[in-house]
Amino acid sequence: MEQVFPSDFLWGAATAAYQIEGSVRADGRGPSIWDTFAEVPGAVLGGVGGDPACDHYRRHLEDVALLGELGMPAYRFSTAWPRVMPDGRTVEPRGLAFYDRLVDALLDRGIRPLVTLYHWDLPQALQDVGGWGARDIVERFTDYACVVHERLGDRVVDWTTLNEPLCSAFQGYGTGVHAPGLRDAAGALVAAHHHLLAHGTATRALRELGGTRQKLSFVLNLSPALVDSDDEAHREAARRFDGLHNRFFVDPVLGRGYPADVLDDVAHLRALEPAIRDGDLEVVAAPVDWLGVNYYAPSRVVPLSDPGIPSNCALPGLRGVDVLPPRGPLTSMGWEQHPESLTELLVWLAGYSGVPLVVSENGSAFTDVVDPDGRVRDTRRTRYLAEHLRAVHAAIARGADVRGYLAWSLLDNFEWSLGYTQRFGLVHVDFDTQRRTVKDSGRFFAEVVARNAVPS
Ligand code: NOJ
Repeated sequence: MEQVFPSDFLWGAATAAYQIEGSVRADGRGPSIWDTFAEVPGAVLGGVGGDPACDHYRRHLEDVALLGELGMPAYRFSTAWPRVMPDGRTVEPRGLAFYDRLVDALLDRGIRPLVTLYHWDLPQALQDVGGWGARDIVERFTDYACVVHERLGDRVVDWTTLNEPLCSAFQGYGTGVHAPGLRDAAGALVAAHHHLLAHGTATRALRELGGTRQKLSFVLNLSPALVDSDDEAHREAARRFDGLHNRFFVDPVLGRGYPADVLDDVAHLRALEPAIRDGDLEVVAAPVDWLGVNYYAPSRVVPLSDPGIPSNCALPGLRGVDVLPPRGPLTSMGWEQHPESLTELLVWLAGYSGVPLVVSENGSAFTDVVDPDGRVRDTRRTRYLAEHLRAVHAAIARGADVRGYLAWSLLDNFEWSLGYTQRFGLVHVDFDTQRRTVKDSGRFFAEVVARNAVPS
């Protein structure tokens, strides 16, 4: 038996520029905050950076051929701002030309390109003048988005402004685990506001450039809060976590402003007030055609004895709720495997937003090896995929308007501060030889895509 997906369901795989491209100095590319951060001792496991990563900049035709071999109808990738505008402002034609070639190569094989304009690789020159902490970033990002759109908009229909503003703002400016490595809870909230504003401003601009033919979107990482008890204290803990992790980003995009309950839970939220100017929330609410959901794992939370006690979690200024260790069989990231949470998340968000959804990332990291016979027997990833695909199917069966699923990731790649220690790919990459080997999970996913169905 199998569970069949809607006939127009969009299938594909995803990557991001800094995680795969390498060639960080080629064709005039400028340094990004991740190039700088990777140089900081202790910032990235193994002291490595995004060069050569998967050497995709030079091997992109081979990688497009792989997508073709796997029968992927769509491919989500990001354009690198420091390639297109090395100093964040001035266009480098050679950088733009790369994405032009990539899009053409995809279209030649009938693969639909989904472009994400920002996946964390901010030009260092813009960080030097405040990065996402400075309001000017909104105009800079919108200019960049328009430059890319002017070049590719005749062929690309699907555009995502920003990927996971939570990680970019809270981990980059709050916990300092991501580039640019700043540790300032209040600053992280301001940076988040600027991400949201940049999304809204660019969405308006792209809408004007490309009209209604195109699909504009925003991609969020959402994590449902799980509690062990249904008593009031636990429900309250879940509300707090959900407020800052999920609704803080979802609500403004839907035109509801920042959730009022979050204002009371977060110590530093007052710092946000001066950053929010008249009219900002209207801009943030620019209509989107779909919302992207990046889902990996839920968060188990527990109330603290006093609502004023700072949380142990990575959300800036959150109080009164702690995050518990994950349970059950974990992925090599130490993340819990809980497909039911994906169903619940999609059902909730579809109803809450009324906007079509795409699972823009979902996947798992395990320690894969190429066996002597050349196969990668990654049964745990295949199981993770099958369970999560059934979870998406269950959400659709419950009425959620989910239009697509993009597996993270096409290739093993640079996993940010964890370097090359985490393999998320459907395709194994030997980082010494750059040899690509399709894993068993890649073949399984290809079969799902071909049949438009997952085995029950
Ligand atoms: C989400 C991010 O968008 C992606 O860059 C990252 O590799 C995956 N999560 C896995 O951590």
